[in-house]
Amino acid sequence: LYTPETVECNGETFNIYLTKEELEARVAELGSELAEKYKGKNPIFIGVLNGAYIFLSDLMRQVDIPCEVDFLKLSSYGDEKVSSGEVTDLKDIDADIEGRNVVLVEDIVDTGLSMKYLVDKLQKKGPASIATVTLLHKTEATHHDVQLDYVGFPIPTLFVLGYGLDYAQEGRNLGQIYILDGDAD
Ligand code: IMP
Ligand code: MG
Repeated sequence: LYTPETVECNGETFNIYLTKEELEARVAELGSELAEKYKGKNPIFIGVLNGAYIFLSDLMRQVDIPCEVDFLKLSSYGDEKVSSGEVTDLKDIDADIEGRNVVLVEDIVDTGLSMKYLVDKLQKKGPASIATVTLLHKTEATHHDVQLDYVGFPIPTLFVLGYGLDYAQEGRNLGQIYILDGDAD
């Protein structure tokens, strides 16, 4: 795994915030909770590209029941560290989720706009249920009324990087979560 002590990304310095051990342990817990909850229900996991791909792949391998996966993609932050306040669809799911038990998986919930938009969008396709999972939740930044069923880690309102999360498309391959230097504690 690529797990340096500090990282330079787009001219800024980032330090370790959540280690690979902390991530592994929490992802395993979430996976068992989901397996327990969805036993016999053949859930379909829907990952939000690009950010959720690493978390989703680790999470699903901790879910020891039959299940399926599909992806959708939204426009994101662009290359900035603050939310644009707009959501655009870039790719829809291919699966038919009518009557299915959906588990929607995000990397991070910031303002809550993306997750709220996605739940509303998927709800229109007539699933039996939708549960939301996010690895990270910037609790104080969330001002949209969004339903979060499984949260990996509540975090402060700080820019984070790694384990799928990017800064202007870089840093997704880092094996743990990093935070902008000077923002920690
Ligand atoms: P929201 O719609 O404001 O909740 O923003 C959610 C999306 O913004 C996430 O899916 C991420 O793609 C991106 N995002 C939010 N905070 C961060 C961050 O700290 N680092 C990297 N991406 C982030
Ligand atoms: Mg995202």
